[in-house]
Amino acid sequence: TWTMVNIVEEQVERIRAQIGTKRVICGLSGGVDSAVAGALVQKAVGDQLTCVFVDHGLLRKGEAEQVEKDFVAATGATLKVVDAQERFLKALAGVTDPETKRKIIGREFIRVFEQAAREVVAEAGDGDEAVEFLVQGTLYPDVVESGGGTGTANIKSHHNVGGLPDDLQFTLVEPLRELFKDEVRKVGEELGLPAEMVWRQPFPGPGLAIRIIGEVTAERLAILREADAIAREELTRAGLDRDIWQCPVVLLADVRSVGVQGDGRTYGHPVVLRPVTSEDAMTADWARLPYEVLATISNRITNEVREINRVTLDITSKPPGTIEWE
Ligand code: XMP
Repeated sequence: TWTMVNIVEEQVERIRAQIGTKRVICGLSGGVDSAVAGALVQKAVGDQLTCVFVDHGLLRKGEAEQVEKDFVAATGATLKVVDAQERFLKALAGVTDPETKRKIIGREFIRVFEQAAREVVAEAGDGDEAVEFLVQGTLYPDVVESGGGTGTANIKSHHNVGGLPDDLQFTLVEPLRELFKDEVRKVGEELGLPAEMVWRQPFPGPGLAIRIIGEVTAERLAILREADAIAREELTRAGLDRDIWQCPVVLLADVRSVGVQGDGRTYGHPVVLRPVTSEDAMTADWARLPYEVLATISNRITNEVREINRVTLDITSKPPGTIEWE
């Protein structure tokens, strides 16, 4: 639409004015915000941008490919992919406590991203070409939440992005800081990003690791990824994507129960469907999904994912339950 075209043009102008001829990097998470911010900067300064995608192996089925193929095809951006799956699995081995999982993932992520950023900086050489800017997908509500109506929190972090070491300092480029989520999605559409990326439901940074109740292993991730993909596919097919806020699928990896599947008895794991409606994730209600849709999801998961022999439904509001199980 006209306004989206305006927003895009205005931001492109501003980004060009801010970055000039310098180099800039952007971390992609698989989420909407970083993708739209990256796409805007690419449109503004083209090859001066290098995107970095740390693949921690905790994304859902197809999401890493979305970044590596679809995002690149849609934007023409230069992408550096770091395959850190083994590293994250090693760091998470034996860990079951939810907050410990989050801490480990956050810590490893920063380390891997720093290393990648150093490589990009080194490859860019120096002088006028130095990498001086880092793109962040900060939205208007984040700006308000962090205490600065005029964005003081982030202006203060100018040349000192929280958490990065002294020898890696960047000035922030935040092209989404005046936008709300729905506007970001429209800008993403305007820029030609894939619909699955633009309309992606909220997904936690620690990813599937906090949807496996118990230790995170490669096998468990593979099981959950399949079950989650089926649930998402059926919700989309039923046209329910925009009616629900999100629908985590949770693998109770340490629980087993007896079932009959195919030609015999099995001793498999349950998954929990956690469909919720919400305005802002602070409170939520369980979504009253049609029985037919639930039945299809349950049948498909238990037929197609050998290790899962039960599908259960979480009917708890928030509070008292949180949306995620960890
Ligand atoms: P809860 O489970 O607290 O989740 O009701 C509220 C919203 O936040 C998301 N969530 C996270 N997002 N890192 C994130 O980036 C996290 O560690 C995290 N934990 C929960 C959750 O998916 C929901 O949308």
